[in-house]
Amino acid sequence: MKKILFFAMMALLLLVAVACGNGDSDAAESNEQDQEDAQVEETPEDDVTEEDEATAEDAGVVNLYTSRHYDTDRELYDLFTEETGIVVNVIEGSGPELIERMNIEGEATEADVFITADAGNLHVAKMDDLFQTIESEVLFNNIPENLRDADNQWFGLTQRARVFVYAKDRVDPSELSTYEAITGPEWEGRLLARTSENMYNISIMASFIELWGAEAAEEWANGFANNMARDPQGGDTDQARAVVAGEGDVALMNTYYIGRLLNSEDPGDVEVGEAVGVFFPNQDTTGTHVNISGAGITKHSKNVENAIKFLEFLSGEHAQQVFAEGNNEYPANPNVPWSDTVAAWGEFKAQDINLTILGENQQEAIRIFDRSGWK
Ligand SMILES: [Fe+2]
Repeated sequence: MKKILFFAMMALLLLVAVACGNGDSDAAESNEQDQEDAQVEETPEDDVTEEDEATAEDAGVVNLYTSRHYDTDRELYDLFTEETGIVVNVIEGSGPELIERMNIEGEATEADVFITADAGNLHVAKMDDLFQTIESEVLFNNIPENLRDADNQWFGLTQRARVFVYAKDRVDPSELSTYEAITGPEWEGRLLARTSENMYNISIMASFIELWGAEAAEEWANGFANNMARDPQGGDTDQARAVVAGEGDVALMNTYYIGRLLNSEDPGDVEVGEAVGVFFPNQDTTGTHVNISGAGITKHSKNVENAIKFLEFLSGEHAQQVFAEGNNEYPANPNVPWSDTVAAWGEFKAQDINLTILGENQQEAIRIFDRSGWK
């Protein structure tokens, strides 16, 4: 009987894996926030091996829906299995795709843990009632309070800063100072950014609403849009490429995209990464905008104990180092050293806000962008 159940479960997992394959090719055609999530190199069914079967009966499984796709993550999951016997089944897709999928699956979902980028996306999952509250002293100790949900429904795992990326040959960093100052007349026709529909921009706007008030935040959106070199288009990496191509001088981007270019196997990418500088705005005032990628346990998880163990493992020192370096990010656990790539940009002052705020101000941020000149 146990055996039959087991094979039924494997068949289900394979079905899920096949469905996911389709989803990923959709993601490749959508915007870059999805693209980052869509460079899938392995198919999920590769994970189900005979060796896994033996341990699956002992310690069970944890089923992960994730928008991360890095080989180093896979190695970490294997290490978790080695340490605990718990098998990690991975389904990859973009954050919004996986949220939609969990909404459709409802109580029947296989997902135990959901990992995605941006506190804004984690907030959407929370609002869709997809998460449950987690009580874990290990997570409370490892992840600072400002990087987790106020109701403990999601926890930050890695951090990224949204910075100015500038052309080293045309901009002296001494000309740069704050997010606000970049709306001045001297920057007319020189700025680059992706569209205001993108969650990274919605979240930075949400932070400005918190720090400056809605009116000043709207002025900033209009001021930035007025100084754009071209209509918003492409993903973050496209902005860096446009800076190097001379289309504009300063782009609004997440740090890890520069890290990714610098560590690329493509010499052309490395050239782009080396031709630009990273500037942390608002160091003398409100700090640079920081966002996270993070995780929650699904409301309908059938393996809650294993899911908690998995998140506790990911918040630990070794896992944090590998997890952050896999995407050139900053670890969420403050006891973990930064990689050489991000350390080279120097320490910086981050915005002093609880990232739960990004979700709370999300709808207002969307309304402001809708009214603004930022397409
Ligand atoms: Fe991204």
